[in-house]
Amino acid sequence: MHRFTARGLAPACLAIAASFAASFACTAAAQGSGKIKVGFMLPYTGTYASLGNAIENGFRMYVQEQGGRLGGREIEYFKVDDESDPAKAPENASKLIKRDQVDVVVGTVHSGVQMGIVKVAKENNTLLIIPNAGVDEATGPLCGPNIFRSSFSNWQPGYAMGHVLAERGMKRVVTLTWKYAAGEQSVKGFKEAFEAKGGKVVKELSLPFPNVEFQALITEVASIKPDAVFVFFAGGGAVKFVKDWAAAGLKEKIPLYASGFLTDGTLEAQGAAAQGLETTLHYADGLANPRDQSFRLGYAKTYKLQPDVYAVQGYDAAQLLAAGASAVKGDMTRKAEVVKAMELTRVDSPRGSFTLSKAHNPVQDFYLRKVDGRENKVGGIAVKALADPARGCRI
Ligand code: PHB
Repeated sequence: MHRFTARGLAPACLAIAASFAASFACTAAAQGSGKIKVGFMLPYTGTYASLGNAIENGFRMYVQEQGGRLGGREIEYFKVDDESDPAKAPENASKLIKRDQVDVVVGTVHSGVQMGIVKVAKENNTLLIIPNAGVDEATGPLCGPNIFRSSFSNWQPGYAMGHVLAERGMKRVVTLTWKYAAGEQSVKGFKEAFEAKGGKVVKELSLPFPNVEFQALITEVASIKPDAVFVFFAGGGAVKFVKDWAAAGLKEKIPLYASGFLTDGTLEAQGAAAQGLETTLHYADGLANPRDQSFRLGYAKTYKLQPDVYAVQGYDAAQLLAAGASAVKGDMTRKAEVVKAMELTRVDSPRGSFTLSKAHNPVQDFYLRKVDGRENKVGGIAVKALADPARGCRI
């Protein structure tokens, strides 16, 4: 580890440090050889484990494509499994920030855990890049110069689907989610668009995260006989929900819609039960853009896996960091310049290029997708260049 003290100087530099010019050159050389420390705080166990792994894969792949360096510096990784447990979030974030002294935290997936990370990152003025968790507060009332997101706000994909269902003339919709910020805020976004155009959410159902005892709730939805149901589930829980829904015989009776997390990275496990499901998300299969095609080829070659939205978000988190690191030639102590460069960058994402809002959340297209085999095939754009309203953010 190189700090900017004599301890961090190479011995040859110390020997000639009497000359100011030589000492300056040596200090610069010592800084230039320091690594950028990246701390992954992600779920590596539990219902979101595959999401955490995909994010890390995507991030590492981008760094590898740059020869293992950003802003001229090598990257050193630190990892903490956050277990999608909000209660452990402050301690886990502190391990990376205080013990490992990382330059940037890349995390996480779960909105509740994210709240803890945001708090610790703000207290320590540590750069944070959120590679998934949509918790609206992070780019709303808790926004800050050092808080960036490469993914989405919970409001966004829900809003896009509310718009689609209203356009289709649906009137009565039931919502069903895990009872925590991601589900609740998706429903809020959905409701805002859907009810503004004359629809009505007639019942909001939920169960605690990460429970998968869906049966009683599925029965309740069926008894209400709505025009459609809108859900938020992801990861392992999404696999189980989609299978349970089909097994209950509701697939042909009540149209099921969701934010795209329901069917992203899950189709192999969901199989026939997922066929034909329509969702909204900021990524899709079959985008006709060369950036996506090369990303997908590279990912499949490196990991022997098809990428999903989480891999894209991880990849783009690394692209955001690269924009900041390049502007300061890897000297991450120049925080204001890092932030400025990240704010101004246009990310050349596999999803389609995007910029950041003032609150540091992607302004991006939301695709309408339909499951066909192992793919969430793009059908069109549900809402173009959708920006989260960033209510309560004052940067
Ligand atoms: C969240 O908790 O914000 C979350 C988790 C998984 C997803 C999307 C959002 O797929």
